Amino acid sequence: MTPIPTAILASGSGSNFVALAEDARSHPDPAWLPTLLLSDRSEAPVLERARKRGIAHRTLDPTDGTALRNLLEEAGIGMVLLAGYLRLVPDAVVSHFRGRILNIHPALLPAFGGRGMYGTRVHEAVLAAGVRVTGVTIHLVDERYDEGRILAQWPVPVLAGDDAGSVGRRVLAVEHRLYPAVADHVARALAAGRDPEPLDLPDPILPGAPLELLEAASGASHRRRPPDVPSPPDGAPPAESRDGRPNR
Ligand code: GRF
Repeated sequence: MTPIPTAILASGSGSNFVALAEDARSHPDPAWLPTLLLSDRSEAPVLERARKRGIAHRTLDPTDGTALRNLLEEAGIGMVLLAGYLRLVPDAVVSHFRGRILNIHPALLPAFGGRGMYGTRVHEAVLAAGVRVTGVTIHLVDERYDEGRILAQWPVPVLAGDDAGSVGRRVLAVEHRLYPAVADHVARALAAGRDPEPLDLPDPILPGAPLELLEAASGASHRRRPPDVPSPPDGAPPAESRDGRPNR
């Protein structure tokens, strides 16, 4: 297939940029390729990471929507991936690329999202709320922060003794797996002329896993599993998720 030329917008370190770019570039039949990296911060480390990989890169004026739309159009961009991009995408860009801009958020939206909720702040809010599960959300971008249609989510446990750093690292490891999968899925839908549907993922709640985590966190090895949730044999991964589909 002809890969969709794709722009990645990032404000920071760019670990998601690297995960995305390396996944697409090592794919035997890529549905998209990173052809442009744009940052609103001239000192962002992600610019150097693009340079090292030979990917065109430059800074942008985040407030000039017309200039950004023209730049993306002139570069023949067909899909836009926000990867730690901290600015609101201007309306002129959203309306031109509607359904073709994705964002990744390090929590389970609609919780812990919106203006000002980014980076460590998200994980601090998760810990302050006392929730035991956080996660990753990938969604389409509209005119508001973190509100577009959700295409994929994956949970990540919050464990006893966590701080924002430890939760953030656990979440980021999932981001690096989930975003390339969703970008590939969306690009294939766009190439086929379809609007992207949510990614069909296996049930992430593995049989027994939540209780195993609870036991590990509390040392309560005497807790019994509910009778309708079979326990896998010691050391063996569960063969199927709860809806009968194979786990990955
Ligand atoms: C990620 O946690 C992403 O979800 C959020 O910003 C962070 C960017 O990290 N939107 P990196 O620059 O990709 O390392």
